[in-house]
Amino acid sequence: MSQHPNRFRAAPTNRVGGRITVPGDKSISHRALMLGAIAEGTTVVRGFLASEDCLATQAALEALGVEIERRADGVVRIEGVGPHGLRAPRGMLDLGNSGTAIRLLMGLLAGQPFDTTLTGDASLRQRPMERVASPLRQMGARIETSNGGRPPVTIRGGAQLRGIDYELPMASAQVKSALLLAALAASGTTTVRSPGPSRDHTERMLESMGVHLERTSKGEGHAVALAGPAVLRGGEVLVPADFSSAAFFIVAGCLAARDGLLIENVGINPTRVGLLAILREMGANIELRNERSLGAEPVADVWVVESKLRGIAVAPELVPLAIDEFPILFIAAAAASGVTTVSGAEELRKKETDRIAVMARALEAVGIEVEERPDGARIVGGPMRGGTIDSRGDHRIAMSFAVASLRASGPIEILNTAEVATSFPSFLEVARAAGLAVTAEGGA
Ligand code: S3P
Repeated sequence: MSQHPNRFRAAPTNRVGGRITVPGDKSISHRALMLGAIAEGTTVVRGFLASEDCLATQAALEALGVEIERRADGVVRIEGVGPHGLRAPRGMLDLGNSGTAIRLLMGLLAGQPFDTTLTGDASLRQRPMERVASPLRQMGARIETSNGGRPPVTIRGGAQLRGIDYELPMASAQVKSALLLAALAASGTTTVRSPGPSRDHTERMLESMGVHLERTSKGEGHAVALAGPAVLRGGEVLVPADFSSAAFFIVAGCLAARDGLLIENVGINPTRVGLLAILREMGANIELRNERSLGAEPVADVWVVESKLRGIAVAPELVPLAIDEFPILFIAAAAASGVTTVSGAEELRKKETDRIAVMARALEAVGIEVEERPDGARIVGGPMRGGTIDSRGDHRIAMSFAVASLRASGPIEILNTAEVATSFPSFLEVARAAGLAVTAEGGA
């Protein structure tokens, strides 16, 4: 399916710099499509991320009868069909590699009058779906998962949903968002409680589309309540650059931006920027410049200068706020002096790959000492050599090792890189603009 190169070669350069822009936020792009689809009226999205994951969401919504026009300049127009306007798709909906797409669509489709079956690629078909299906069933949805709670997932039509009060077992924005999407079609109030914060893009976008939410956060406890049924009003969604894509270059800057590196217009939603706190504790020199709002989200230009990093014990409460940044954080830890420990991060084993295991094997392949733990790892900073690493089709692991080359003594060959197109199709161009010597080897 992907035309993206399946192998990268990253030669050691020891310098990055300049001014770069990374593409739009993946989480916000998915949500703009889904909320725009069920809103009344037209939604215009600027800065949309046209990556494989978001295009899978677009194709699914089109199969559900929504008209979506995507222009070359990144502007997307969605003709909202309203809360009752979706139509039965002809076949299964394939969400490719995207956990966000499948889980949020489960919530969106739980209250529809028709049956839908959702599936995905080999990686997605290994990922747990009961965390969403089980609370949706408590709301009255009829959902079948396969093979011990995995996709394909079938959502039966005609269920009458009712609001519930649900306590999430883990801080998960995907589960929270799926329940809020189902709550839009339910009668009564749905309250989602969480043991800690998770990204709140769904809440911000729902509010900007006219939905009233009660949001509370007391100590460790976080809750959001939505009184259904509720109707969304289409409008304009402005998408900041994705902090999780910027993260590769923030770490690259820490390792090798002697004269500084500027990453423009980056989303700095407080529920996303745990990596900044972690890197600063490690000694990084990072400044947020020109902080401002872009629609419902805060953004800034991120300025980073090469700094001497030291190992730390990463605070477990920062894990949900940096959940997608651990692959690149492991590279920062490998380049730091001393030992870095990560704990409370068992969720990393349920991502596109088991990110603790795959990162541990890959770091060992370039000479770094790593002890894998059930809920994290202990990484000993030290010299890195060149070598071959297998990203196992995990986009964030592939991109992380391109950055690792800044500190390696020889080239790093990175295998199974095609999935980089799921989140950051222009990664190679942006990486080269920043000064990395990373090239594609071979075709799709
Ligand atoms: C996402 C939430 C996170 C994150 C994923 C995107 C989202 O997953 O890892 O890449 O867009 O809601 P969890 O909410 O399951 O932790």
